Amino acid sequence: MSRRVFVAGGAITPFLGKGHPDFIWKRHPDFGQRENPTLRELLTSAVTQAAENVDADLALVDKAYVANFVGELFINQGHLGAALAGVHPALALKPTMRVEGACASGGLAMACGVDAIRAGSDVVLVTGVEVQTTASARTGGDYLARAADYERQRSIDDFTFPALFARRTKAYREAFGVTEEDIGRAAVKAYANANKNPLAHMHARKVDLAFAAAVNDKNPNFLSHEEYSPFLKVTDCSQVSDGAAAMFLVSEEGLAKMGLKPSDAIELLGLGHATDSLYVDRDLREMTTTRTAAEQAYAQAGLVAKDVDVAEVHDCFTVTELLMYEALGFAEPGKGSELLKEGVTEIDGALPVNTGGGLVGFGHPVGATGVKQVLELHRQMKGQCGEYQVPATPSVGMTANMGGDDKTAVVGLFRNLA
Ligand code: CAA
Repeated sequence: MSRRVFVAGGAITPFLGKGHPDFIWKRHPDFGQRENPTLRELLTSAVTQAAENVDADLALVDKAYVANFVGELFINQGHLGAALAGVHPALALKPTMRVEGACASGGLAMACGVDAIRAGSDVVLVTGVEVQTTASARTGGDYLARAADYERQRSIDDFTFPALFARRTKAYREAFGVTEEDIGRAAVKAYANANKNPLAHMHARKVDLAFAAAVNDKNPNFLSHEEYSPFLKVTDCSQVSDGAAAMFLVSEEGLAKMGLKPSDAIELLGLGHATDSLYVDRDLREMTTTRTAAEQAYAQAGLVAKDVDVAEVHDCFTVTELLMYEALGFAEPGKGSELLKEGVTEIDGALPVNTGGGLVGFGHPVGATGVKQVLELHRQMKGQCGEYQVPATPSVGMTANMGGDDKTAVVGLFRNLA
């Protein structure tokens, strides 16, 4: 017997980093006058805003989780369960904990929240946060490499993850005859959507196809790895962002305790979770772990890919968005780029994907990403996305959050409640 699980809403902070007008760095006019928000401030802001948006009394929270990848490295801070307990007096002395699964940390925190509800909790607070802009992109590349098999893969390039996905891009393009322009469309969509989203890291930066599909001084092939370098430019990469997200997962009783109606919520219908060995790599032209998690989610929900009206997928690099379309069953192997070419995954297309800009445009504060994805579905289903609202109210939505080089995958299927 399984209890029903609902997402009652929450909040996302602005995602900040290089390229965002509010991000403080040495050439910002406010440099020396003010600083970028700390992890504590981001988490406090997400939780406080989430409680306000849902009109929730935080005293009702039975358990709380915080997703974070490498606080120890970027800000010298671990033990983030206690940080979460410190963001509001009502959370002090509650059972809280941190959850880590690289870039899938947020999805895993949601999975823990779902388990908690199924085990009897009624109100669970699921949060995610990461601060990454304290280090240069190169040093950050080393920190993020802890999500790969460090001993075996660290030396591939200073930018380990960009290189691992350039490797996938090479394999994918060579196998399926996909061009740089085909893949560049993923970046153009991401930036265009982010331009409509006031919370997005790349809200103010414009990218057109001519820029995204060709190397130039401002969009270089920046890897040192000779073989993989031609397969990745700056616009192919997700952002190094700071940000947080917080959401309430509730049972039916939890909805009542919070004074909410089912129509305020979306319901989780299926949750797939798969993890593959860190020590071996599979076929680079597909995402086997994500596909496995998606199959689980579809089977639990009794749904198929054609039922999905809106999706949030883990586009850590542009090629990943195409591989995600294929792993989730939206396109046949090698055909993901056709969805982009035909406009299917645009905001006004038949299957809008990453409407707020995804990891490339909205940004990728690693621990926050999986939580943000679910909130984005909630916001789309409740008509709260403003300029990037999809035209028809979605009934079914899907999230796919992925850690490492397709090593941890959490896939959710949700339905809108009227
Ligand atoms: N010409 C030539 N080379 C240039 C250049 C130019 N005009 N501009 C930059 N470069 C080169 C330089 O070598 C530079 O490094 P140095 O300054 O240290 O020499 C390098 O490119 C990077 O340039 P910047 O530091 O100026 O770049 P940036 O700060 O704008 O960052 C980015 C751009 C490197 C792409 C960065 O955004 C990035 O690293 N993104 C990816 C983040 C990432 O990997 N996240 C994890 C995703 S994987 C996942 O999600 C799964 C998981 O579990 C981890």
